[in-house]
Amino acid sequence: MVRASRPYDILIGRNIFDSFDRIIVSYFSPRKVVIVTDETVFELYGKSLSDDLKKRKFNVKIFKIKPGEQSKNIDNLTLLYDFLNNFGITRNDFIIALGGGVVGDLAGFAAASFLRGVSIVQMPTTLLAQVDSSVGGKTAINFGGGKNLVGAFYNPSLVICDADFLKTLQFKTFCDGMAEVLKYATAFSASLFEKIQNSKIDDILEEIILRCIILKKSIVEIDENDFRERMKLNFGHTIAHAIEKYNKYENITHGQAVSIGMVYILRQGEKFGLTKKGEAQKLINVLKKFRLPVEINIPHSEIFMNSLLDKKRRGNKMTVVVSPKIGQARLLDLTLDEYKNFLLS
Ligand SMILES: NC(=O)c1ccc[n+]([C@@H]2O[C@H](COP(=O)([O-])OP(=O)(O)OC[C@H]3O[C@@H](n4cnc5c(N)ncnc54)[C@H](O)[C@@H]3O)[C@@H](O)[C@H]2O)c1
Repeated sequence: MVRASRPYDILIGRNIFDSFDRIIVSYFSPRKVVIVTDETVFELYGKSLSDDLKKRKFNVKIFKIKPGEQSKNIDNLTLLYDFLNNFGITRNDFIIALGGGVVGDLAGFAAASFLRGVSIVQMPTTLLAQVDSSVGGKTAINFGGGKNLVGAFYNPSLVICDADFLKTLQFKTFCDGMAEVLKYATAFSASLFEKIQNSKIDDILEEIILRCIILKKSIVEIDENDFRERMKLNFGHTIAHAIEKYNKYENITHGQAVSIGMVYILRQGEKFGLTKKGEAQKLINVLKKFRLPVEINIPHSEIFMNSLLDKKRRGNKMTVVVSPKIGQARLLDLTLDEYKNFLLS
């Protein structure tokens, strides 16, 4: 259980998809439910989930989006509001987000804002969503070219994580999730980092999911609304968001951008004596195991400019997450001039 302002359970396991309807029934009596999903996940899992819930006397409707980051936009949010409204969803009903982080973030923000709050169950189907986006209550859409610019903190009522969903993921999408897993390891856990370095990933998958969720839970419980400690979870992300924005959310995934962002920060940290020498190379070696990119051909000045809308900027100050050594994150408060110097040197 996550002891947030509104506590919720996280169920983690394998082969629990077949019992999803039974689990849902133990939390909700039959009522209206909207399953938000994308076209790919709908074909794989959405139809059978909907059929099972209908057998349990739920009144189910499906809202589908096109797969991909570009769907996390205000047009789809408006369509979803219309859909919820036309279906007559009340605050007694609920939403299920069945999919990756894109579905989870969009459905989460709709749940946070429609009728000032409708219950949502997160059923994450990508590694990234299981270890990160489904837990912690951050919801958002991209807006005005900026990443996650409009959103809310809104906790789910329940998170159901089935590691078997990951069997149908493309290797590339699995690796995107590994970028976030390596973020946890680099920022918080040298032992997790070593385990990933030295193990066959399939042998430790469930352990990884569990350890990442426990790490996230412990941080969210200290700082639910991202005032300080939680910012460390954004290690590599200010650069990642700038890269995604520069690329207009095309041709690069969030995980790939995070991978480049983490290496960028470690390298700059080494230049400024903030990070032990050799740590960037250690991370690069592991990222390459998962075929993640470690650099990108974009002028650093563009990365700086595109990072200025980041939510870790407060007026003339920017908080940067650095890592003195693998397993330890630290927050650095810089003026914009110092930040520019840090990025561009
Ligand atoms: N809210 C948060 O705290 C938080 C944290 C990290 C990332 N995010 C957000 O998460 C998003 C990225 O999420 P993502 O990497 O899951 O991408 P995604 O949701 O776009 O999913 C990636 C692809 O995998 C497919 N897919 C999903 N599940 C599948 C399955 N089981 N089998 C086969 N294919 C499947 C999808 O159709 C999609 O094409 C970004 O928008 C990022 O900003 C949010």
